[in-house]
Amino acid sequence: MPAIQLTGVTRRFGDVCAVNDLTLAVEDHDFVTLLGPSGCGKTTTLRMIAGLETPTKGRIELNGEVVFDSEKKINLPANLRGVGLLFQHYALWPNMTIYENIAYPLAGKMAKSEIDKTVRSMAETVKIENLLDRYPAQLSGGQQQRAAIARTLAPRPRVILMDEPLSNLDAKLRLEMRSELQRLHLATGSAFLYVTHDQLEAMTLSTRICLMDRGVLRQDAPPLTVYRRPADLFAADFVGAPPINLMEVTGAGTGDEMNLTLPGDRLARFSFRDRTGEAVPPDGALTLGARPEMIHLGETGLPGTIYSVLPAGMETTVRVQTEGALLTAVVFGAAPLAIGASARVSFAGEDLLLFRRDSGKLLGAGKLLLS
Ligand SMILES: Nc1ncnc2c1ncn2[C@@H]1O[C@H](COP(=O)(O)OP(=O)(O)OP(=O)(O)O)[C@@H](O)[C@H]1O
Ligand SMILES: [Mg+2]
Repeated sequence: MPAIQLTGVTRRFGDVCAVNDLTLAVEDHDFVTLLGPSGCGKTTTLRMIAGLETPTKGRIELNGEVVFDSEKKINLPANLRGVGLLFQHYALWPNMTIYENIAYPLAGKMAKSEIDKTVRSMAETVKIENLLDRYPAQLSGGQQQRAAIARTLAPRPRVILMDEPLSNLDAKLRLEMRSELQRLHLATGSAFLYVTHDQLEAMTLSTRICLMDRGVLRQDAPPLTVYRRPADLFAADFVGAPPINLMEVTGAGTGDEMNLTLPGDRLARFSFRDRTGEAVPPDGALTLGARPEMIHLGETGLPGTIYSVLPAGMETTVRVQTEGALLTAVVFGAAPLAIGASARVSFAGEDLLLFRRDSGKLLGAGKLLLS
């Protein structure tokens, strides 16, 4: 029995369909991220699960209990749904100490000594045990965020919903809090549904990514599957930094081998390793996708010139202008390259991607050999 089950959930606001026929399951121990651009319906989805927003249509179950059903007219109020909620603007009570803030949702639910034990152990987990006597205003942003997490987790909810909880923090703290969240998730075993528009956060934290676009679920898969086998061009382009290189190509042939014409009329051969059920369109209009780590700079391949070199210490992002395409490559370590110098580009590995250009759907993955 999934901890969260949405079936055909839709929410309209006038003409806007914020969430469109969403079906989605989150199991215990899952860490699912809802990922997608601004306005794609992430917050609305979370609010409907929490009971803060009423769906136009559909059914929502939590731990096997129907909490909303548009046909059966079931709509359990938010306070009876037993979910833990954490938003970007986590409002700690300013007139209560951190201790009182964490203890607040426990009042009346357990004995005083039990509350004390829970508050102290939660505070220890998020490393704020020495700040319990302070007021929120006397804490840094990161410490306040930890306190808010402790308050959310203290009642031990089986379902935890988080809406961009780290977006107010600076980059270093965000990285630190990411690993804390990962550990907390393991420690609690609860189902986490986590909203972010940061693809790196989704990639690194989740067991599954649900990628949304304009209210529609585009792909529901583990992070590395979304990265290596994106369902369509939208998924391919949204996930990955620097973004995937996309080139308009023409393809001919059937079976596991295809002839491609690349930008600049260069011919190449594509051998599929994996194929989806999608067919090659009659006009052969395809898009070739190559992740930056698949672009290889060497002695052979497409001729080009170095357009820019961005060293970041651990790796260097190099852009190369070839005939008809500006390609981004990521090279490990430093790259002794000068802007304007000539370079040759080839395509490494067996995970190059081919998409139909009309529907954007993935045709398959494989190897590309320049003729
Ligand atoms: N109360 C409302 N009334 C009218 N339209 C709304 C309301 N709430 C949300 N919407 C619309 O529904 C769509 C989805 O909004 P939602 O807040 O779920 O997006 P989001 O994915 O959380 O975006 P962001 O990343 O910017 O937070 C948007 O087009 C938004 O304008
Ligand atoms: Mg939002």
